[in-house]
Amino acid sequence: MYTQELDVRGADAAAAADPGMLEQHFLARVDAEQKIEPKEWMPERYRSMLIRQISQHAHSEIVGMLPEGNWITRAPTLRRKAILIAKVQDEAGHGAYLYSAAETLGVSRDELIAQLLSGKAKYSSIFNYPTTTWADVGAIGWLVDGAAIMNQIPLCRCSYGPYARAMVRICREESFHQRQGFDLMLHLARGTDEQKAMAQDALNRWWWPALMMFGPPDATSTHSGESQRWKIKRISNDELRQKFVDFTVPQAKFLGITVPDPLLRWNEAQQRHEFGPIDWNEFEQVLKGNGPCNAERLAARRSAHAEGAWVREAASAHAAKQRLRATRHAA
Ligand SMILES: [Fe+2]
Ligand SMILES: [Fe+2]
Repeated sequence: MYTQELDVRGADAAAAADPGMLEQHFLARVDAEQKIEPKEWMPERYRSMLIRQISQHAHSEIVGMLPEGNWITRAPTLRRKAILIAKVQDEAGHGAYLYSAAETLGVSRDELIAQLLSGKAKYSSIFNYPTTTWADVGAIGWLVDGAAIMNQIPLCRCSYGPYARAMVRICREESFHQRQGFDLMLHLARGTDEQKAMAQDALNRWWWPALMMFGPPDATSTHSGESQRWKIKRISNDELRQKFVDFTVPQAKFLGITVPDPLLRWNEAQQRHEFGPIDWNEFEQVLKGNGPCNAERLAARRSAHAEGAWVREAASAHAAKQRLRATRHAA
């Protein structure tokens, strides 16, 4: 810690003489796998890229509570209900860690939430699809949390300290989410014909949106270059998507259900699966706000925010009272 502190001061002094030095020093630290901490110098583009990414990630956790929260009151057993409540609460916690990580970059949580509620901020496109059957809870855990883990494990080594540390905790919980989803799918797949059909239908609907979660193809991805240079993003969208397919296809086989892709096949020479084209037009439409549930999700967040106003007011009043008490005590 002391060495790091001295390094930064040394860099500050050098930068007074040469402004390019700060950036060089920053890049050298990133190359040396050192973590960048909130009060240290960083390029403005790095800061704004992180604010965008971390806040989109936080919004996704919070909006992601809605599709599954929809099933809490209809869970088929007490055990499944307890698991689902725990999972949805974890997602709220993930949102809270991530908003805090974003705040260390000099943006306020109020500002970020206002961007979400106004429809200006983006969140993961996957949460704009409906959860029409109980099997969707299994498919989300298995595929959506599975894709999230694939995306997020490399972020545990991201160059920005608070984000990397938040991701370590989050990934541990995501792994429980993935396993409970797979376990639910396994129960359905080994159940009655009707239950197995329900599991197959959920896979049919969630497979392609799950592949879209890794973002646009590398050739068209706009933020990838800088993000990789700064070690925010470590593995490209296409590489992560390929890993996900290779990891998930054998699991679908084990479940005895079929991935809805007629072009899916194992390439022995390359030791990987080939898969059919993704409908990027659908992805663009959902991102633009035209997905099946975009309006419903935002309406739910807005009403939750309005209904929570009294909690925020009570917390502020309590904090003001505490401050007054502390001042009186000090006087
Ligand atoms: Fe999460
Ligand atoms: Fe999760």
